Amino acid sequence: MAKAIGVDIGGTGIKAGIVDLEHGTLDSDRIRVPTPKGAAPADVLTAVKEVLTTLDVQDSDLPLGVAFPAIVKYGKTLSAANVSKDWVGFEAERFFEDGLGRQITFVNDADAAGVAEVRHGSARDARGLTILTTLGTGIGSAFLYDGVLLPNTELGHLWRDHDSIEKWCAYSAMERESLSWEAWSARLQEFYSHVEFLFSPDLFVVGGGVSKHPEKFLPLLELKTPIVAAVHRNSSGIIGAASLAAD
Ligand code: BGC
Repeated sequence: MAKAIGVDIGGTGIKAGIVDLEHGTLDSDRIRVPTPKGAAPADVLTAVKEVLTTLDVQDSDLPLGVAFPAIVKYGKTLSAANVSKDWVGFEAERFFEDGLGRQITFVNDADAAGVAEVRHGSARDARGLTILTTLGTGIGSAFLYDGVLLPNTELGHLWRDHDSIEKWCAYSAMERESLSWEAWSARLQEFYSHVEFLFSPDLFVVGGGVSKHPEKFLPLLELKTPIVAAVHRNSSGIIGAASLAAD
């Protein structure tokens, strides 16, 4: 069975697993450690080593994909919304490769989730434009046109009230402000209606931590575009990172 390792670095947790590439499913436990406070590069590297050791793959030669919550271009992180500002303009892929002593594939976390859902999940065989959004600490986005990824779209940073819209309507905003599902959904309605108007997608897929509870908010949204939960829920990032590493 073809396998690869996926690591999904998020604003709150670092998750990892071994992925069965044929079925796009986890072939190990899903390991999770909290993202170190401040999420500075050296601390994140230590945490990634820890999850690889727990998975017992520190010396494995399986392909390794690492997903990260920032714009990633040619191995460099170009933004840092919910992690240390040290990542801005940082040679992150090289840093992890040096630190882990092996080759990796380094990608944006939402892009990884989008690839998992288009290859093995709710956007499988979807034609036209699928927009996946992850609702977690921030809001990530992946655009897939006829299954092909257009990387580094950053819909969580659409501008609202002099700030990134993710500060107002990510899942973390609901938790921080103790919003009801109804109150939070009203914010999501504004976000998704605007995105729908801008891009006329054919399908919305919702991933991230909150995709465990799709029944609480998806039925409250009124959109022309079908909107569904990510099949792989909070493991999409792990599965997509592994899948991209094996390409
Ligand atoms: C970052 C994105 C990331 C998203 C989800 C945003 O703040 O800018 O790159 O995909 O959070 O983690």
